Amino acid sequence: MIQKKLEVTYQPFNKSTRVPPGTTLFSAAHWIGLPIDSTCGGRGTCGKCKVQLVDGGGEITTADRKQLRAGELESGWRLSCQAKVYQDMTVNVPELLRVPKAATMGVNRLVLLDPNVRKVYLELTEPTLEDQRSDVERLQDALTAEGFDMKADLAALRTLPGALRDAEFRVTAVLGGDQLIALEAGDTRDQSYGVAFDLGTTTVVGTLMNLRTGMAEAVGSTLNGQAPFGADVISRISHGMQGEEARTELREAVLNTINGILADLYERAGVDRDRVYEMVIVGNATMLHLLLGIDATPISMMPFAPTFREPLYLRAREVGLEIHPAGFVQTLPIIGAYVGADIVAGVIATGLAREEKIRVFVDVGTNGEIVLGSTKRVLCTAAPAGPAFEGSQIKCGMRATDGAIEGVTLTDRVELQVIGGDVPPRGLCGSGLVDVVAQLLVAGLLDASGKLKSREEVPEHPLSDRLTSVEGVRAFLLTENVYLSQRDVRELQFAKGSIATGIKVLMDVMGISTADVDEVLLGGSFGSYLNPESAKIIGLVPAVDVDRILSVGNTAGEGAKMALLSFRERQVAFELPEKIEYVELSGRSDFNDSFVSVLRFPDLEAVA
Ligand code: FES
Repeated sequence: MIQKKLEVTYQPFNKSTRVPPGTTLFSAAHWIGLPIDSTCGGRGTCGKCKVQLVDGGGEITTADRKQLRAGELESGWRLSCQAKVYQDMTVNVPELLRVPKAATMGVNRLVLLDPNVRKVYLELTEPTLEDQRSDVERLQDALTAEGFDMKADLAALRTLPGALRDAEFRVTAVLGGDQLIALEAGDTRDQSYGVAFDLGTTTVVGTLMNLRTGMAEAVGSTLNGQAPFGADVISRISHGMQGEEARTELREAVLNTINGILADLYERAGVDRDRVYEMVIVGNATMLHLLLGIDATPISMMPFAPTFREPLYLRAREVGLEIHPAGFVQTLPIIGAYVGADIVAGVIATGLAREEKIRVFVDVGTNGEIVLGSTKRVLCTAAPAGPAFEGSQIKCGMRATDGAIEGVTLTDRVELQVIGGDVPPRGLCGSGLVDVVAQLLVAGLLDASGKLKSREEVPEHPLSDRLTSVEGVRAFLLTENVYLSQRDVRELQFAKGSIATGIKVLMDVMGISTADVDEVLLGGSFGSYLNPESAKIIGLVPAVDVDRILSVGNTAGEGAKMALLSFRERQVAFELPEKIEYVELSGRSDFNDSFVSVLRFPDLEAVA
């Protein structure tokens, strides 16, 4: 069901936005890049985010009564983080005394540097016989005066007496939201770090971020240590089905991978682990379940219901991740079994749900995750593409590592782009596969049905001697020992057909045609390396102008960084599952019908 959008106008800026009912005034302001002050991260405890109602709204919340004076309430002041929009509204926003720093991240997104981790330096009065407040009360009172709320768990309580007295009550309190992470002696505000992780099925990428400057201190990546248990999520889940021990194996493998990257990041950046307070981690639903030691079996079986979809905020020591032991690990929400937190991060990084233009975002991999929409409405789906894009089940296929052909140009000769520079070509990775097929179509050596020509059919063609047959199957020779076979072309047709159909179904559900699509964004570890023109020629993406097909890089990692640096972005991520409509492809008759029609390659004139 499409929710009716409501209009909110912020004065004196005269800036408006349209948001779904129930959005807070605070979040809505952030959507249009209007910073409203806050130190509590929208929890209703700092009282800094107040705005004055001019038109619409009015309800007074408990937090309003606690934070605002009676006179303020009477003259229409409300906490914007508590006030929800249920009708068109106009509000006055007080000018900011401190405008948070901003940085450009993701796909041209301006992100306010406003992390969920805060460090507050306090010079507390020491207890006396006249002032017998507890350590917790003393801390809470001082933090409240600065606009912060604080809760301490048992482990934190145990550290309090020593930490306060050793430091003579001059301490820096480290808060993750309203949870006390640590009390550090003296003023340590200049050392505040976090890590953002993209936990891919194949590759894991971690970035150590300086939370004060918003800059990356070091980046590291390595293959996921679960690889020996299978290349894709289904084989990992199958391994986990063998029981508790197998799940522990999977969990330990990925923990070792992440902790290995962390140790390397700390060493390279010269940062102490105990100054790293938060990790934002994104990944597909299976990867997040396995990381947490949760049985992922239901994800692989009808009706594909994961154990959790909501964002989790867990102590690092509980998960087994080696940042500050009392620090937190934040996962972003999952939309469905096959549209995970990595895609939510991608939507954040691209701003897809917050802009007027209609965009298709495709993360191409074993599963093609597709998101279509704009600020008005957002749809998503997952199309099973099979392993062709990853280079498997392709005769000379290989992963995108040294020796892989990643780009192909056919003129009257064959030009190859090989990963690693001067190394001899060993095989074809996904982007090379897409390129060679597109180039063969353009060169007239492959017809629209996907049939490779024989040497006899095109005797005059300068590349006709490359057409051959291997083990009785037609093939095109790229080098002496790397070729593309007729079967490989079929594999690619199925893979691209599945994704193209997914896109078409979403466009049909939204009631739009290719002409309405403003941009196509190719993301993910594979999609970003695709040549946009080739993707268009083979019909993987809608036939928009090629300069409107953009490679957007590792959007999952970018989105994780944004959620680490800005609690407001994190909040937007938390709200996305409510805003994005999931379209299930299996069982749709239009999926099967369109699938058959998009197996063919498009006419070259149509994509020119
Ligand atoms: S009270 Fe702190 S952001 Fe609203």
